[in-house]
Amino acid sequence: MNEPATVEEMLARLRQAEYLADTGLATALQLAVRLRHPLLLEGEAGVGKTEAAKALARVLDQPLIRLQCYEGLDVHDAVYEWNYGRQLLAIRRSESGGQALGDLYAEEFLIRRPLLQALAGGVLLIDELDRADDEFEAFLLEFLGEFTVTIPERGLFRAAAPPVVLLTSNRTRELHDALKRRCYYHWIEHPSPERELEILRARLPRLGAELTRGVATAVARLRALELRKPPGIAESLDWAQALGSLGAVRLDEDAAERTLGVVLKYREDAELVLGRGLAAVVGA
Ligand SMILES: Nc1ncnc2c1ncn2[C@@H]1O[C@H](COP(=O)(O)OP(=O)(O)OP(=O)(O)O)[C@@H](O)[C@H]1O
Ligand SMILES: [Mg+2]
Repeated sequence: MNEPATVEEMLARLRQAEYLADTGLATALQLAVRLRHPLLLEGEAGVGKTEAAKALARVLDQPLIRLQCYEGLDVHDAVYEWNYGRQLLAIRRSESGGQALGDLYAEEFLIRRPLLQALAGGVLLIDELDRADDEFEAFLLEFLGEFTVTIPERGLFRAAAPPVVLLTSNRTRELHDALKRRCYYHWIEHPSPERELEILRARLPRLGAELTRGVATAVARLRALELRKPPGIAESLDWAQALGSLGAVRLDEDAAERTLGVVLKYREDAELVLGRGLAAVVGA
């Protein structure tokens, strides 16, 4: 694996992968890769947690193995499953053909889910762990500690080398201390207006400078208000793109009012912003 040798190189290569990180995040990622230590990323919605893992996989030129967590996620979705259909077919074949039935728990019947796949290498993203239940989190403790998986019918699977593991949480609930103890931790802040502008320019190079600057400034001001859902980078990108597609060359009050639903997703938030006057958000 071609790993960045320094934090500076990590930053530069993330940038090549179209991810503009700050030094803090690049350092956390560098340590996670170098020391093969799981890294827990938290931050508000849309600050770039999922994208950090995708970009890291591109930097390392490794496959991204993603486990999207949800309530009720269990071992069969996360680790492995037996292919019942194929097992049944094998049984039928042996019955009708009269030959001896082979091993129903042979490799060919094993469906590898993300955690088992990750033992063979790659960047493992365990996304939105706060959505999974406590039981799954408890199961993960063992996985993150040993990087082994036990399949009763086949025994112990061990990673040849520990995989790179990133976990994310939106903090809809707190994760357990035991899990946090096994991870490094990094809180991703909203970007500074300067970095946000760089992201907009990198991702939407065809938009005019005045428009992107206006969006970066306005989004920073919106985040300073007491909103229910402050806009993330995803919303800035959407906003700039929407304005561009409407032919706007700058963000003025009129353009902002017409497109407010692209960036604010709660009626209360829109009312608060309109109540204070859009001039405060888009003004020079
Ligand atoms: N540092 C960055 N550089 C470039 N693009 C970024 C950066 N951070 C985020 N983005 C872009 O912003 C969008 C949102 O990012 P992402 O989906 O990773 O957020 P998230 O933190 O995982 O949000 P959620 O909690 O809603 O899942 C994506 O389109 C992503 O490409
Ligand atoms: Mg995400």
